[in-house]
Amino acid sequence: MKIRKAVFPVAGLGTRVLPATKAMPKEMLTIVDRPLIQYVVDEAREAGIEHFVFVTGRNKGAIEDHFDRQFELDETLKARGKKAEIDLLAQFQPEAGAMSFTRQQAPLGLGHAVWCARDIVGDEPFAVVLPDELVLNTPGVLKQMIEAAEKLGPKSNVVAVEAVPEDMTHNYGICGVGKRSGNTFEIDGMVEKPPKGTAPSNLSITGRYILQPEIFNILETQERGAGNEIQLTDGMKKLAESQKFYGLEFAGERHDCGSRAGFLRANIAFGMKRADLRDGLRAEMKKYLES
Ligand code: G1P
Repeated sequence: MKIRKAVFPVAGLGTRVLPATKAMPKEMLTIVDRPLIQYVVDEAREAGIEHFVFVTGRNKGAIEDHFDRQFELDETLKARGKKAEIDLLAQFQPEAGAMSFTRQQAPLGLGHAVWCARDIVGDEPFAVVLPDELVLNTPGVLKQMIEAAEKLGPKSNVVAVEAVPEDMTHNYGICGVGKRSGNTFEIDGMVEKPPKGTAPSNLSITGRYILQPEIFNILETQERGAGNEIQLTDGMKKLAESQKFYGLEFAGERHDCGSRAGFLRANIAFGMKRADLRDGLRAEMKKYLES
């Protein structure tokens, strides 16, 4: 199953990390030296994605600018002979025509955001990637999912899942678990943000999906669910009546960068992965831990 397009819902207001996100998109928050959105675009590229679809909203212009050429900056770097920086920027630049931007005009929920991409995605399977969830691993989660989907056969839908503590299940979409095979399983029911004590398992839906295009017709008439929003999980539950859904327990450590604690942790985890920063960071942390 060839997955060529990935949808990045980036219209969210980022209320969990105010005031950082008052004037700046939460997707532009920086982990070490690059914005969240850069990590997930790179993850998609590693997985073979060729077209990047951003569902944006008001005040999200910085995301579009981030993936554009910065003529003045390029010229200045060139004039100053800053080859390493020129190469770094070129490496992050998607090809011309490989990105599309559309707007979710009102905050009606994740299901509605994905539906906004229907004309750009068209009639082919596609990925959905939520930028505030970062996973530290090579290969990335999306690559692991596409490889799994290839083995699971045509018209399969795949959702990345991770076990969370029982008292956290009400914060996520949760999957019921059917037949298992290695690190994948048939999904047996899905519920968005189940009330405490009612979750069918502790396997939470993380921000990575491979979906068949039939989801769009369902989302078009999907009623509001948890939080009075149009939920992607509810749409998937309906699609699961006619198509297979699988959960993949991926390899890698997940960081929820939309929360303050998760964002700080991700900065440390990603910083410690960087050969140029690791030793200095370790010494600094030691100092703070001992004080
Ligand atoms: C969304 C999804 C939820 C999923 C979560 C992962 O919820 O609706 O199923 O578990 O992302 O981050 P949100 O975090 O937007 O409330």
